[in-house]
Amino acid sequence: MKTQLSNPALNQDSEIKMQKPALVWDLPTRVFHWSLALSFLGAWLTSESEYWQLWHLSFGYSMALLIAFRLIWGVVGTRYARFSQFVGGPTAVLAYFRSWLQFRPAHYVGHNPAGALAILVIMALTLLLVASGYASYAEIGGDWLSDVHETLANLLMAIVVIHIAAVVLTSLAHKENLVRAMLTGKKMVAAGEEIHTKRPILALVLLGLLAGLWWFMFA
Ligand code: HEM
Repeated sequence: MKTQLSNPALNQDSEIKMQKPALVWDLPTRVFHWSLALSFLGAWLTSESEYWQLWHLSFGYSMALLIAFRLIWGVVGTRYARFSQFVGGPTAVLAYFRSWLQFRPAHYVGHNPAGALAILVIMALTLLLVASGYASYAEIGGDWLSDVHETLANLLMAIVVIHIAAVVLTSLAHKENLVRAMLTGKKMVAAGEEIHTKRPILALVLLGLLAGLWWFMFA
């Protein structure tokens, strides 16, 4: 069930008093996020020169591995990592935007419906980006594939810019540092809304898989 924390009908002061910093994002989700962000940045920066091609390919494969992991984690992961917790239909997204237009942005402990939509778009675009990149590298298909690859990369960059702007805006609106939360895993939440495990071993497995991939590419 999606947890919307601040129902505008509730008294926010009393709600805030009952909140404590507690774990919301498990470690694999955080490792996934920052590794994906770094890999995208890395792939972007190494895209123009032949010299950096192996790096570019490795960043690209890392992105594919990370998305594959996240698709599984979205089904079996902890509470706020699960797709069933944060993915809603168009009605939820529209209601969320309406709450902004009414100057009472709805607050969510996990991802809000607009963020959830952005996450799905980012994941789909990343998979298409890696597939088109691989196909043009392996010379499957024609030259048009590298144009598609470049267009997808630009599109993803545009969405990332919107994503970061939305994170800043939402953080300001709710006086809640979402970037810090994605780093520490903690948010101010009411009792019973926290998760109880960081899943550190799985985060290590994910880092190990990434390290293995890079070793394989450069060996
Ligand atoms: C400096 C750059 C970035 C910052 C500060 C940032 C910040 C964040 C924050 C705070 C969240 C959690 C939002 C929430 O509370 O609902 C988030 C989620 C997410 N971001 Fe970013 N982000 C950055 C770059 C990127 C990039 C480059 C990508 C993809 C290429 C990306 C993809 C995602 C995804 C997929 C999620 C969902 C995480 C999950 O549930 O697994 N982010 N980001």
